[in-house]
Amino acid sequence: MRIKYTISLVFIVALVIIEKENNIISKVSDKLTPRQTPQTPLQSNVSAPALLKQNGSYSSLSQLDVIFTHLKRRLENYTQRTESRAGGRKHILLMATTRTGSSFVGEFFNQQGSNMFYLFEPLWHVEKMLTLETGGTNATASARAYRDVLQQLFLCDFTLLETFINPLPVDHVTTSLFRRESSSSLCEEPVCTPFVKKVFERYHCKTRRCGPLNLTLASESCRQKEHRAIKTVRVRQLETLRPLAEDPRLDVKFIQLVRDPRAVLASRMVAFSAKYKNWKKWAVDGEVPIDDDEVKKLKGNCDNIRMSAEVGLKQPAWLQGR
Ligand SMILES: *[C@@H]1O[C@H](CO)[C@@H](O)[C@H](O)[C@H]1NC(C)=O
Ligand SMILES: *[C@@H]1O[C@H](CO)[C@@H](O)[C@H](O)[C@H]1NC(C)=O
Ligand SMILES: *[C@@H]1O[C@H](CO)[C@@H](O)[C@H](O)[C@H]1NC(C)=O
Ligand SMILES: *[C@@H]1O[C@H](CO)[C@@H](O)[C@H](O)[C@H]1NC(C)=O
Ligand SMILES: *[C@@H]1O[C@H](CO)[C@@H](O)[C@H](O)[C@H]1NC(C)=O
Repeated sequence: MRIKYTISLVFIVALVIIEKENNIISKVSDKLTPRQTPQTPLQSNVSAPALLKQNGSYSSLSQLDVIFTHLKRRLENYTQRTESRAGGRKHILLMATTRTGSSFVGEFFNQQGSNMFYLFEPLWHVEKMLTLETGGTNATASARAYRDVLQQLFLCDFTLLETFINPLPVDHVTTSLFRRESSSSLCEEPVCTPFVKKVFERYHCKTRRCGPLNLTLASESCRQKEHRAIKTVRVRQLETLRPLAEDPRLDVKFIQLVRDPRAVLASRMVAFSAKYKNWKKWAVDGEVPIDDDEVKKLKGNCDNIRMSAEVGLKQPAWLQGR
């Protein structure tokens, strides 16, 4: 009986949250749409499935199904055509900005099973370490660090990442890897070592109890898997990753997730409610100040995505097949 009630309650709460987010999305859309300045559309001859999109929202789920099937067919076709490099290993980088559904998409890779080594936001440590006193980061220096750490991680080498983990791992063992529980490879045999009592691990495995993370073991496990995927919301521009695409030891595929910034904002307003009190007020009755930090941040995100997309659509030699 209790379980029944709990399930209904969870269901209702989920519905309320979805409804709330939808409401805010439409309000935010209404406020921001007239302010959009016309921009030249990106030149593309790709008959993107996105063209099925109408009036900013998919008219029905069945259309989404069609798009998904289409995308899947293209992916399969593509996979068949690409000859194997890097010993048949694939390295997938899932690039996104926050609140674009990247954790969800990352799960497609995480749940691939025994042949996939998936890491969730390893660059969190790098960003944290490189954050300046002003609260920002030096974009040039960060981009370089992100690139080098990613390159090593795709080769199953955690050494550089370790230097960014605080406190520093001892003998390659750490209790502080960000969101360890979100990478099933880090929570299963043989990386899951016997549980150690009285050792506190903040991001401990949820599916089972494991000892502190031994990165030597993680690295060995990674080497044995055929494919490696990393999700990150921290890489700003595709161009900075060129050395990875050109590294003959890697066969990298880049996937960039893009979401309408108004929906991103609406999602943030729901997720970080307290931080967005002003926005909620503006959404209901007022004008949105155009010089607001959040607007600037969104615009910055859009500019970055746009630059990456432009690089992608120009199809430079280093991106062929990537
Ligand atoms: C797009 O197609 C048009 C006409 O088919 C062609 O002239 C143009 O070069 C194409 N652009 C790209 C980027 O392929
Ligand atoms: C899209 O908008 C146009 C004009 O605003 C309208 O005529 C059309 O029915 C809309 N389509 C959908 C699918 O909502
Ligand atoms: C697969 O790719 C080939 C070569 O580009 C193309 O001719 C064919 O139509 C594609 N098939 C599907 C099902 O997309
Ligand atoms: C950012 O880092 C780069 C490379 O380390 C350095 O040359 C540059 O001066 C730094 N910029 C700022 C504003 O600190
Ligand atoms: C971590 O795993 C490696 C490889 O099995 C092992 O040699 C090492 O002793 C382990 N480190 C610790 C601190 O247990």
